[in-house]
Amino acid sequence: MASIANGHVVDVVKYNSVARMLHWIIAILIIGNIAGGLLHDPLEDIVSLMPTHKAIGITVLVLSIVRVIWRFSTSHPPLPASVTAFQRVASKIVQFVLYLLMFIMPLSGWVMTSAGTYPLTWFGLFSIPKFDVTKSDPIYGISHEAHELLGWVMLALVIGHVAAALYHHFVMKDAVLKQMA
Ligand code: HEM
Ligand code: HEM
Repeated sequence: MASIANGHVVDVVKYNSVARMLHWIIAILIIGNIAGGLLHDPLEDIVSLMPTHKAIGITVLVLSIVRVIWRFSTSHPPLPASVTAFQRVASKIVQFVLYLLMFIMPLSGWVMTSAGTYPLTWFGLFSIPKFDVTKSDPIYGISHEAHELLGWVMLALVIGHVAAALYHHFVMKDAVLKQMA
């Protein structure tokens, strides 16, 4: 597919279809889970969001494992030449931390939930095993703190990431968003 960049017509080399599919499915699940995590307290009397939050989070973990394996075993397109050195470094850092959080958020949630008494199931279909953790173990406190704090960090990074994608598309008018679309 062709695109206009700085007045020149260039071919858009897309991420492969599996990479794109995984990016968008995981993105939707994560945005839903950040919202669900933050809203579960205020909405507690109306709806119980936590069982779904936990099942979505475990799904993100599994899909992220597939995604990282796929990322390292297939090629991905280079950024358009018009992208500046600063933008390249910034996007590398943000994307790397997003990848890290795709693992740390589900794992910390899983560890802290393991210390609780509520059942842990995948959408009620089958039960997910719990780690051997109690609320007096330091790992429980660390996971709980990390989950709450890093949830906000992830929200901030996702906002920055989306803002950058929209900036490329609407202001720089380059192919960055089209490569992932
Ligand atoms: C994509 C993965 C996940 C994201 C982005 C995410 C995000 C969040 C956020 C933003 C909160 C609100 C924190 C706050 O109150 O400030 C939260 C709370 C919570 N999450 Fe997750 N979460 C994920 C996965 C999981 C998983 C896999 C579990 C458990 C199996 C889990 C269990 C919980 C619990 C129990 C709370 C409530 C903590 C409390 O109110 O004390 N989360 N999550
Ligand atoms: C929770 C939400 C999201 C997460 C965790 C996320 C994460 C990521 C990660 C890790 C990459 C790097 C892919 C790779 O090179 O392997 C990426 C690329 C990309 N994402 Fe997202 N993303 C999210 C949402 C979005 C949204 C909503 C948009 C668009 C509005 C978007 C646009 C893009 C684009 C254009 C790229 C390619 C950037 C490049 O080639 O450097 N993402 N995303």
